[in-house]
Amino acid sequence: MRLHALLASWCVLRAAIAQTTTDDTDPPAPTPTGVDSFANVTVYQPDDSATQLTYARTENLPNNTVLAAWNDPSQAADSIAVFRSTNSGFSWYSFGNATSSEPGRKLLQPSLLYVNQSFGGDSGVVLLAVNAVDDKSTNIEVYASYDQGESFELASEVVSAGPVGANSSTAVSNPFLLLQNNAVTMYYSTQQDPQHSQKIVQQTTADDFDSWDTAIDVVASQFHDDRPGMSTVAKLPNGQYVIAFEYGLLNSTTKAYSYPVYYKISPSAENAGTERTRQLVVDTGAQPYGAPFVTWTPLGGVNGTIVLSDSRSNSVFINQALGEGTWREVKTTAGRASAREVRVPNNDDTKLRFAGGAEYGQQSPSQILVTMMDFQKALAALEPRE
Ligand SMILES: *[C@@H]1O[C@H](CO)[C@@H](O)[C@H](O)[C@H]1NC(C)=O
Ligand SMILES: *[C@@H]1O[C@H](CO)[C@@H](O)[C@H](O)[C@H]1NC(C)=O
Ligand SMILES: *[C@@H]1O[C@H](CO)[C@@H](O)[C@H](O)[C@H]1NC(C)=O
Ligand SMILES: *[C@@H]1O[C@H](CO)[C@@H](O)[C@H](O)[C@H]1NC(C)=O
Ligand SMILES: *[C@@H]1O[C@H](CO)[C@@H](O)[C@H](O)[C@H]1NC(C)=O
Ligand SMILES: *[C@@H]1O[C@H](CO)[C@@H](O)[C@H](O)[C@H]1NC(C)=O
Ligand SMILES: *[C@@H]1O[C@H](CO)[C@@H](O)[C@H](O)[C@H]1NC(C)=O
Repeated sequence: MRLHALLASWCVLRAAIAQTTTDDTDPPAPTPTGVDSFANVTVYQPDDSATQLTYARTENLPNNTVLAAWNDPSQAADSIAVFRSTNSGFSWYSFGNATSSEPGRKLLQPSLLYVNQSFGGDSGVVLLAVNAVDDKSTNIEVYASYDQGESFELASEVVSAGPVGANSSTAVSNPFLLLQNNAVTMYYSTQQDPQHSQKIVQQTTADDFDSWDTAIDVVASQFHDDRPGMSTVAKLPNGQYVIAFEYGLLNSTTKAYSYPVYYKISPSAENAGTERTRQLVVDTGAQPYGAPFVTWTPLGGVNGTIVLSDSRSNSVFINQALGEGTWREVKTTAGRASAREVRVPNNDDTKLRFAGGAEYGQQSPSQILVTMMDFQKALAALEPRE
């Protein structure tokens, strides 16, 4: 067996051992200097295994605390649950929730943001953006928690739009929150502009959580039928931003959409509209597909590493040239999941944390799972490039 294969299987084994040997004992105590890897711990399992949970989103808080929320189509009406871990994601419990003031709205497509600075007179506020959906409307709402994610109050109704639907609908969807330059920027997809079947826009607020500037295009195609959407954003060490999204492209023969992953590199988080749209080219020929999540880790050389998870692969796709050139594929210890999230834990840059639910287009597994992967080992095991 070649060394990198050996290392990879050792990683899997170690993760498996870490999980099985700690199941009946106390979780490993996370220290300020690191987190142990583990695989597939359950955050939440619905009573009905036919319930399709997707779109897991987490956020790092101080003191090894992590919050999580996800899409649960069978959730209690008008409410979205927030779970908490105080050991870097190894074990989880029900902690809080946000409840809509409008009866009958389901709170979906969460994005969590810990505002790790003073903002609008408060500091350490946890924001939760959702798409509040009912039969007649879609509404991007922001809830704020002043008690670390236990209780949430409505801070802003950023945009109200038409109901979920196909071409003629004017719906909005998929909010993503980013803290940048002392401002909060919210990216979302919108069908409100008749020039575009769907486009990605952003709105920014700098003073409080309810003073959003007007919407500015982030990704809008010259072709009406194109449907860029599902954006996530990460800051790079050169001050630029990587904006990843799925690019809904209509096949004119089959009339079906496909959703390859594209991205932009932009010097500004707020003005990316004129930056070029880049295809994500992987040196193995793999094509990342569907609802990407992008992050950046300082690991992996002078540029660090951009890490992107898609919705269909067990792998992550990485770029160590600040988004230029081709990407490489790295197998992970986490399962595939629709809109799978990848994050770097606060207290250990050598790891990647994955959160996901059901696989793309499938019901199973129905639970929300979190995996902590040793990314340093995985990078070390990669074949060097010529
Ligand atoms: C908050 O910011 C400080 C200083 O930049 C950083 O050390 C810390 O890790 C951050 N905490 C979280 C939870 O993001
Ligand atoms: C983190 O832990 C320290 C020490 O126990 C405590 O003083 C501090 O308040 C905690 N921070 C938060 C945000 O809970
Ligand atoms: C939501 O949280 C409140 C406390 O903040 C609690 O009383 C209530 O039972 C929770 N609701 C759900 C559906 O979990
Ligand atoms: C959507 O509607 C626009 C304008 O009515 C039309 O030009 C376009 O062909 C339609 N696209 C699809 C996929 O039906
Ligand atoms: C459209 O779909 C057909 C049938 O699956 C396929 O042969 C063709 O390559 C597709 N066109 C594009 C541009 O992908
Ligand atoms: C870092 O990124 C720059 C810009 O893309 C690239 O020219 C350089 O080769 C990268 N360095 C390494 C070590 O990959
Ligand atoms: C975690 O679970 C997924 C299925 O969801 C499986 O494919 C993967 O191999 C598991 N990882 C480990 C390390 O057991």
